[in-house]
Amino acid sequence: MKREMDKFDRINRRQFMQTGAKVAAGALFATLGASKLFGSAKIPALTPVNSVVLNNGLKMPVLGFGTLYLGGSEGEKCVAEAISVGYRLIDTATIYNNEDAVGAGIRRSGIDREKLFVTSKVWVDDSGYEKTKKAFDTSLNKLGLDYLDLYLIHRPRGDVKGSWKAMEELYKEGKIRAIGVSNFEPHQLRDLMESGEIMPTVNQIEAHAFFHQPESLEFLKKNNIQMEAWSPFAQGRNELFYNDVLAEIGKKYNKTNAQVSLRWHYQRGIVTIPRTSQKAHMVENLNIFDFELSDEDMRLITKLDLNTTQFPEWD
Ligand SMILES: NC(=O)c1ccc[n+]([C@@H]2O[C@H](COP(=O)([O-])OP(=O)(O)OC[C@H]3O[C@@H](n4cnc5c(N)ncnc54)[C@H](OP(=O)(O)O)[C@@H]3O)[C@@H](O)[C@H]2O)c1
Repeated sequence: MKREMDKFDRINRRQFMQTGAKVAAGALFATLGASKLFGSAKIPALTPVNSVVLNNGLKMPVLGFGTLYLGGSEGEKCVAEAISVGYRLIDTATIYNNEDAVGAGIRRSGIDREKLFVTSKVWVDDSGYEKTKKAFDTSLNKLGLDYLDLYLIHRPRGDVKGSWKAMEELYKEGKIRAIGVSNFEPHQLRDLMESGEIMPTVNQIEAHAFFHQPESLEFLKKNNIQMEAWSPFAQGRNELFYNDVLAEIGKKYNKTNAQVSLRWHYQRGIVTIPRTSQKAHMVENLNIFDFELSDEDMRLITKLDLNTTQFPEWD
């Protein structure tokens, strides 16, 4: 755990030495014109988001913005707001049916494209070489972008190897900066690693206070594949936001259950992509870099693991 944090922090320090935290925060506002975008709303104090370096050398923010269920004008507004308060990683997928809204939100934010890290995913209906190539073009068009930072196979179903070959080619052509998978178990990843030419960079899987996935995390760390947690709050299921153990821990640091959850992921070396439609929550969820959970706190959270998905209907 300590080593993982050191890895994240090393990258952060390097970044800070290059730019200086205050300069970076100032530049962020200058670029975004946040106050112009959202009237005279008070600008929150920014904590720059740390990054991790993927196995292909690409830098990925350790905390991003999830967009499941955020479509249409609400989705556009949320994405623009998330960018305005400091999010740089935006996670979408074909199956969310919101890539157009996400693209509109990105344009509305006014941010330079290269400052963002945009992820999308190929859905199971588009598995296979030809369909994946087409699905990728459709995603790019809907988003209004000319490259993706990360493209994932959403689920290990259908012709995974055909999809991977298409993604390898798109990666070599420079249309995707990193390729990876989602919802893969270690044996499924091992298969892909053996048959493919390019190592997956990321595996995005379910993980939260009630489902820790220690075996996957260990496998991914051993193979230098970044774990990214989806539903880092379990969508609030099992009363996560009211959980007593998280609340007791949070009291010590004046942090909420949401912040304790995200910090716990961070200290395990996991990238998270919380979703919210509320600006106050966007800011709250970013403010996790100014405290550290003790070993005892981490041990207490370990006891919350129910070792099973909280989304059985998605299996
Ligand atoms: N690869 C996959 O198969 C897969 C599957 C699921 C999700 N994902 C990705 O992971 C992202 C995150 O997961 P998710 O959207 O399922 O759920 P989540 O992030 O675990 O939880 C979202 C819920 O938490 C609430 N919330 C957020 N911040 C809060 C805070 N500070 N205090 C109290 N409530 C808060 C939100 O409500 P408010 O809007 O009211 O704040 C929302 O109801 C998705 O959006 C998507 O990008 C990927």
